[in-house]
Amino acid sequence: MNRKVTVVGGAGNVGATVARSIAEKELADVVIVDIADQKAAGVALDILETCPILGSDSLVIGGSDYAQSANSDVVVITSGVPRKPGMSRDDLLNVNFNIMKAVTEQVVKYSPNCIIVPVANPLDAMCQAVYKLSGFPRERVVGMAGVLDSARMRTFIAQELRVSVENVHAFVLGGHGDTMVPLPRLSTVAGIPITQLLSQERIDAICKRTADGGAEITKLVGTSAWYAPGESAAEMVEAILKDKKKILPCSAYLQGEYGVKNQYLGVPVKLGAKGMEQIIEIKLEPEEQAALMKSAAAVKELVDVIRM
Ligand code: NAI
Ligand code: 2OP
Repeated sequence: MNRKVTVVGGAGNVGATVARSIAEKELADVVIVDIADQKAAGVALDILETCPILGSDSLVIGGSDYAQSANSDVVVITSGVPRKPGMSRDDLLNVNFNIMKAVTEQVVKYSPNCIIVPVANPLDAMCQAVYKLSGFPRERVVGMAGVLDSARMRTFIAQELRVSVENVHAFVLGGHGDTMVPLPRLSTVAGIPITQLLSQERIDAICKRTADGGAEITKLVGTSAWYAPGESAAEMVEAILKDKKKILPCSAYLQGEYGVKNQYLGVPVKLGAKGMEQIIEIKLEPEEQAALMKSAAAVKELVDVIRM
């Protein structure tokens, strides 16, 4: 194929799901890079062997050598420690920051023109680290979290109203953490705001379950989620490779938008061939803006710790 996507950390749960999804959709050839060299080769081979069944001609290879990733169009970074029950995403800060340092250097060396999609947690702080370490323009470092958080909220709304998930759009802003900002006013079912369809009590429960969505899975499984996160990152990759101009909630480097400066935060973004092509700014109600500022402050605390 004439497009190449590398997934760093692709021998792990989230990364393997991203790799599998990209190969399944025949979006590009896929390179899995992971310090777990043999496992990366094995996971890649297993995914490659699904391709005849799926009718996909994507080539999938894996190992620890970045040379095979050279000139990737998109690099997804899932390398990082996941959380265990009781841990917050923020507990992963220092260990994953060190991984970002090692990985970003290699990504920039081998794929200087790629678009990077960080996934490792704590997500917004890791985006900030990759952005600063890479020296890339902000358009080419755009993080995955909002697609996942919105998908969770869509799931809960669809279950509550017993409607198709395809009818449901959900709007979640802010950092990928406890302070994320689900916006019921802008979350709709067939265009109708959920504020007209559900009681405040049910809406509050859905927003809380959305914000706790990662912890809910971690408690059940013993490690953090991978199917929905992997598919979320793959949706972003597809939007970029197909130049879809798709508006998705992503972590983007804000330079004054939403009143936030020089910091990554989850906002609606237009994703296309150039990466983050536009930040969609909407007018928020005062309490929504206040919640977003609180979330921005929580991200800034982490960014300050790693001095990025
Ligand atoms: P995992 O432990 O299954 O996979 C991580 C992989 O990274 C492992 O295969 C490991 O060998 C590899 N790795 C570690 N250091 C590396 C390095 N220096 N270079 C290359 N590879 C390296 O973990 P999982 O579940 O896949 O999660 C990965 C990360 O994604 C975690 O930080 C997790 O918190 C985060 N995450 C983020 C989400 C989001 O919405 N942004 C959602 C779900 C997970
Ligand atoms: C999640 O939300 C842990 O960030 C990961 O599932």
